[in-house]
Amino acid sequence: MHHLKIHSVGEIRTVGFETGTSLLEILRSNGVQVMAACGGNGTCGKCKVKVKDVGMVTSCLYFPGHDEEVFLPRSLESKVLTDQHDYTLSIELEPGDLIEKSEHPVGVAIDVGTTSIAMYFIDLNNGHTLGIAGTMNSQGQYGADVISRINYCSHKPDKLKDLQAAVLNDIRSLIQKECESHKRKLTDIVKVSVAANTTMLHMLLGEDPTAIALAPFTPKFIDAKILPASKLELGLNPAAKVHVLPSISAYVGADVVAGLAAIDPPESIKNYLFVDIGTNGEMAIVTPDKIWTCATAAGPAFEGANISCGMGAYAGAISSFSKDDVVTINDEKAIGICGSGLLEAVAYLLDNEIVSMEGNLEEDFVLVDANKSGTGDAVALTPKDIREVQLAKSAISCGIIALTEKAGLSYDEVDALFVAGGFGNYMNIESAIRIGLLPQEMKGKVIQIGNTAGAGAVLDVCSEKFAKRLNEVVKKSEHFDLADDPNFAMNFAMGMYFS
Ligand code: FES
Repeated sequence: MHHLKIHSVGEIRTVGFETGTSLLEILRSNGVQVMAACGGNGTCGKCKVKVKDVGMVTSCLYFPGHDEEVFLPRSLESKVLTDQHDYTLSIELEPGDLIEKSEHPVGVAIDVGTTSIAMYFIDLNNGHTLGIAGTMNSQGQYGADVISRINYCSHKPDKLKDLQAAVLNDIRSLIQKECESHKRKLTDIVKVSVAANTTMLHMLLGEDPTAIALAPFTPKFIDAKILPASKLELGLNPAAKVHVLPSISAYVGADVVAGLAAIDPPESIKNYLFVDIGTNGEMAIVTPDKIWTCATAAGPAFEGANISCGMGAYAGAISSFSKDDVVTINDEKAIGICGSGLLEAVAYLLDNEIVSMEGNLEEDFVLVDANKSGTGDAVALTPKDIREVQLAKSAISCGIIALTEKAGLSYDEVDALFVAGGFGNYMNIESAIRIGLLPQEMKGKVIQIGNTAGAGAVLDVCSEKFAKRLNEVVKKSEHFDLADDPNFAMNFAMGMYFS
């Protein structure tokens, strides 16, 4: 048995380990979170930590053979999207009989995203929002995207438990903090509504998600569920119930259903596109009679995962870029680049003909010099990073094209394009159109609509009637697989170009 001394912010502790175990595994098994975007496969380079007398190492590929000392990166403040929007449906407060179980009944609405978790704490006596909180999804230590996480736990119940425990711990600690700050007891919480993608829902409930990653992509469940909260061991009111919102398919989950049900556009908007760009691109086109949905494997480029200096929207991430102005989250020294910054940087490179229409970049482009960065290394974009952006944006644009074709609409006939989710909310729309992520034809009709999944979960907590609206969305929806679209290959190849 050897010993590992772990230095993290303001804390030092020592743990034991056996040789033959990766540093990432040692840290994980001792409850230390390290972002591991590729799930420990050695391909993403995101799990770097500093080892004394060795320097920065890729922790999933480093196998300590004797006593070592490791320094963890400072824990980073995350920026979790909790905003909602004017287009959110308004609904009468009718939370159901459970409110009689507490004098001060509280409902909790949760949007479990692959990257982050947003929580809304609602006073069920009057429908007022007591508090909103967010945190990063700790499952990130097992992979950035749903496929890496499914691979991690596929047919391995113990590993599935790791993933379930990670998300439940996040939820538990958010709930506890909100209870403390609003002077409520855990037993005041009588109702919880959860919106999430299909994989996150499986992992939350401890259901094997393997089938989601394998053709014919049949999840174990997509229907709505109502469970006793005690099943998730959250310590809430003994009568509390957890409402799991319905999904449409393996890759169009309850987050999209909740979002579509929560949007209440004005009369003038009859046909609209809905796009939620996360680690997957989930999208829909809504017409008065029908909804078509599809998902694209956009990859996690805009979450920073396949980008050499990419990172999530943490303090120190470049969030906006132009030649004279580099903006970072919290104004800290740049340590990487997040999705919104990436979009603007690529638009800049195109405008200045540093990247060609075909996506060629001659050499790495330095965004922030090594001597000005917060890591001592330059923050730069590489030719491979540009390729990743091309793949991601082409996947999204193919989905949008296929949806409008399915609905038989031209862009002129589409009244709005709602962009939901964290990346969508912070991205510069002009840059998104510039690089071809969103269609030029929709210029002037793009509306950033915030966290619609969270808005749907709040509506579900507040009203029993919202379930009917969710069901209507599911019934009205027809899902199609982009791979079955005969034009997909051609559209994808064309979408690789920067227009
Ligand atoms: S390289 Fe270690 S987790 Fe990806």
